[in-house]
Amino acid sequence: MTLTDELTRTLVIEAKAAMQDAHATYSNFTVGAALLMEDGSIVRGANIENASFGATICAERSAIASALSQGKRGIKAVAVSNATDTKITPCGICRQVIYEYGTDIPIICSNQSGEYMIHTISELLPHAFTLD
Ligand code: THU
Repeated sequence: MTLTDELTRTLVIEAKAAMQDAHATYSNFTVGAALLMEDGSIVRGANIENASFGATICAERSAIASALSQGKRGIKAVAVSNATDTKITPCGICRQVIYEYGTDIPIICSNQSGEYMIHTISELLPHAFTLD
C-alpha cells in the first residue's frame, strides 16, 4: 500500500481526531494516534492516563492494542499528533513496541496545525533491541 500525500493527510486528521478520546486528566497533554493497517482500515488510539502514573498507556500503544485486539494485522503507517506546535515523536517505549511490527514503518509526526514530518521507525530507534 502506497502512502500517498492524501493518505498521509488523512492519517494526520485521524490522529488529531483521536485526541478527543484521550484520558489525560493528570498531564492535560492529549495525544492521538492513527494506524494504517494492511486491509486499508485506520485504527485510532489516544493516551489513557491513570492515578498511578506509571500505568499510563500512550496513544500509539493504545492504537496498536486496539487494532490487534480486533484481529487486524500489518501496520503500514503510524500517525501521531498532539495539541502543541511541536511535531510529536513517539516515546522510547512506543518506538520499541512499533518496531516489533516492522523495521521500516513510516511514523508521521504531526502538530496541532497538521504540519508533519515522516521518519521510519528504524530512523527513530537505531540499533533497536531484538532477540535475534
Ligand atoms: N504520550 C503519548 O501518548 N505518546 C507519546 O509518544 C509520548 C507521551 C502521553 C503519555 C502521557 O499521557 C502524556 O503524553 C504526557 O507524557
